[in-house]
Amino acid sequence: MSAHSKPTSDASSRSNEAARQQCVNPSCSATFGVDEARFSCPRCGDLIDILYDWDRLPTPRSLKDFEAKWSRQLDPLCFSGVWRFRELLPFAPPEQVVTIGEGRTLLQKADKVGRFVGSAQGNLLLQYEGMNPSGSFKDNGMTAAFTHARMVGARRVSCASTGNTSASLAVFCSATDLGFTGIIFIGSGKIAHGKLAQALDHGALTIQIEGDFDDAMKRVREVADRLGVYLMNSVNPFRLEGQKTIMYRVLEGLGWEVPDWIVVPGGNLGNSSAFGKAFMELAHLGLIDRVPRLAIINASGARTLSELYNRRELRWRAGLPDSSIGETYHAELDASGVRASTIASAIEINRPVNLKKCLRALDFCDGVVREVSDQEIMDAKAQVGAGGLGCEPASAASVAGARLLRREGVIAPSDRVVCILTGHQLKDPAATVAYHGSDPDVFEKVLGARGVRQAEFANHPIVVSNDVDEIIRTIERRSEAGAAS
Ligand code: F0G
Repeated sequence: MSAHSKPTSDASSRSNEAARQQCVNPSCSATFGVDEARFSCPRCGDLIDILYDWDRLPTPRSLKDFEAKWSRQLDPLCFSGVWRFRELLPFAPPEQVVTIGEGRTLLQKADKVGRFVGSAQGNLLLQYEGMNPSGSFKDNGMTAAFTHARMVGARRVSCASTGNTSASLAVFCSATDLGFTGIIFIGSGKIAHGKLAQALDHGALTIQIEGDFDDAMKRVREVADRLGVYLMNSVNPFRLEGQKTIMYRVLEGLGWEVPDWIVVPGGNLGNSSAFGKAFMELAHLGLIDRVPRLAIINASGARTLSELYNRRELRWRAGLPDSSIGETYHAELDASGVRASTIASAIEINRPVNLKKCLRALDFCDGVVREVSDQEIMDAKAQVGAGGLGCEPASAASVAGARLLRREGVIAPSDRVVCILTGHQLKDPAATVAYHGSDPDVFEKVLGARGVRQAEFANHPIVVSNDVDEIIRTIERRSEAGAAS
C-alpha cells in the first residue's frame, strides 16, 4: 500500500493507464494512479473521483450489449450484478476482482405501494437491494473497494458504520478467504441488532466507541491514517464505482428505458453521489438519451442535506460550493449540542462525507431534497412490507419521500418512479415488532420516544387462549372482517 507516497501525474507510473484518481476540487485537480490507496486528496484534502479515458477503453455501443452476459452465469464476472457491467467501472484487472455474487437484485413493480404513494398503476417500482449477500446495497460498493484493496496489497480493512457497511465488510472478509482482517467502528447503542449480529458472527474486530456515527467516522479516519489501514467507507471512491451499478440494473429491469425519478434515502450520501456519476458517464458515452431526476430523502432527525440544500441554498457551483455554509451549520449544531436522531438508524448521520459529490449529482440530475418524519418512515415501511418485499426503516424513507413529492405535485401520477430499498427488513426487527406489536411500553420505548404517535398500518398479533374452539372462532371472525373490508 502506498498511502504516503506523493501524488503524480506521470501516466507511466500508473497500473491502469486509462483510469486515474482525481481530486474533485477543480482548483486542485491533483491526479494519481489507481494503484494508490488514498481516501482524500493529498494536496487539498477534498474528495477523490475515479476518472476514465473512455476513448482508450472498449465501451459498449448500446446498453443492450450487456445482455450477452446473461447467458454466461458460470463466469463469476458475469454472475455478479456489479461486474457484468465492468466496462463501465474499468479500473481493475479481471483477475484481481473480489466478488461474492453481489448485486443480483430485483426491480419489483409494486402497485399496492404505488397506491399509497399516489402513483398510477404500474408506475411505482422498488429496487430491492436487500437481496444482496449481506442484505443491503453496500455489497455493490464493497466488491469494488475490496478489489482495489487487493490491487494495492492491503490486508487490514476498516470502516465506521451505522451497521450495514460493517456487516458487508465482515461478510466480504469471511467469505473471500483472501487474508483480509476487518476492523469496524460503531457508535454505542446506535446499531440495529440484525447488523451487529452480522459483524460479530462473521468475525470482524468490533470497536464500539462512546458516541455516534459522526464520532466513529472521525476516529476511523484517524486510525486508518496512523496505522495505514485500508478505509472502506464511502469516502473511498472505489466504493462508489460499485454502487453505480445499482442504476445500471434499474435500467436493465426497465428494458434499458430511463425512469422519470430515482428516489433514494440520504445518509452519508454515497449512493446519491454514485447514481449521479453513473448517469453523467452514461450520458457522456451516449448510452442514455435523457437523465432521470434524483430525489434524496433525509430523515428529519438527520436533516443536514435538506437544511443546507433547501434552506441555505448550498449548490455545486461547478465544483466550488461555498464550504462556509456547511461549516457554519455544523458549528451551530455543535454549539447547541444537537446530534442526529432517527428510528432510521442507518441514516442517523449529521456530517455526510460525500456532501460535495452529492451536490454534483443533484446539479446533474435536476434533483430535489426532502425530509420525512419517523412517523412517515414507519408508516411507509409498513406499506412496503404489506405490498412489497419488506425493508428496514431507512429504506422506507424513499417511499415516504416519493409520497410527499406526489402530494406536493412535484412527482406526477404518470411519472415512472423507482424507489431504492437499500436494506433488508430483517436488519432491524425491533422497529418492525414495536410498530406491529401490541405492547404499549415497547411502542413507547422504541417509537414513541422518537415522536411516532400511532401505527395506522399495524398488523397486530392477536392473543388467544390455548383453546381450539376459541382459536377457530377468532380466525373466522377475522376472516369475515377481512372479507368485509
Ligand atoms: N439505507 C441504508 C439501509 C443504509 O445502511 C445507508 C447507509 C443508507 C441508506 C444511506 O446511504 O450513506 O449512501 O447515503 N449506511 C451506512 C452504514 C452509513 O454505515 O452502513 P448513503
